Amino acid sequence: MAAPIAVAIDAPDIETAARWASAVAPHVSTVKVGLELYLRYGPEVVATLRGGTKVSVFLDLKLHDIPATVAGAARNIARLKPSILTVHAAGGRDMIAAAVEAAPDTAIAAVTVLTSLDDAALEGVGMRGPSLDAARRLAVLAVEAGAKALVCSPQEAASLRAEVGPGITLITPGVRPAGADKGDQARVATPEQALAAGADLLVIGRPITRAADPGAAAASIAAALRRAESASA
Ligand code: C5P
Repeated sequence: MAAPIAVAIDAPDIETAARWASAVAPHVSTVKVGLELYLRYGPEVVATLRGGTKVSVFLDLKLHDIPATVAGAARNIARLKPSILTVHAAGGRDMIAAAVEAAPDTAIAAVTVLTSLDDAALEGVGMRGPSLDAARRLAVLAVEAGAKALVCSPQEAASLRAEVGPGITLITPGVRPAGADKGDQARVATPEQALAAGADLLVIGRPITRAADPGAAAASIAAALRRAESASA
């Protein structure tokens, strides 16, 4: 079975993106497309990344607008049949519910608090208190509004799981195999730690895509996850 990994295809162009996706597709469940590629190529990039494989496409477009506008955007995106679409939980209950209603076959994943914001930056945008409190509050609001998934740091996964229960997919970026370059990610966890904390889908980009052989890197992390899962079973 393909490993619960969403490979972040943050490629400079569609040719590179297609090469990375076809290398990793045999080993992972999902490929993730962000704004950079989507704004340049649009829906074409989704078809290109699928490339006739069974890999799921996660559209990380982080929608945030008034409910009617998000509903319209989500309706258009739903035609591309992504498995997951992100919205900002801070857009509020009605906005999240509008996305859920407009894209019924896509899991709407709410981004709680961007991991790039520390407590001082959060206070700057009017959210006082530790980021974990904000993440918890937004997670509960998003789930009540119908979100089926949450994007959070691996460090928050256990707390959010306790808050929202077992039925919600927790998606965690900031994952680095032991010894890998952290790049610009500050608070990281290994794939095994993220799974143990309750994550269901691990977003991993550069440790796979920037490896000399992305297919081999994906296969090796997938094998490590399988070992960790069978050890804990
Ligand atoms: O290369 P790396 O593994 O750091 O890629 C992580 C991916 O997850 C990137 O596409 C990044 O935009 C995304 N992401 C993140 N932190 C968040 C939300 C998304 O790193 N809080």
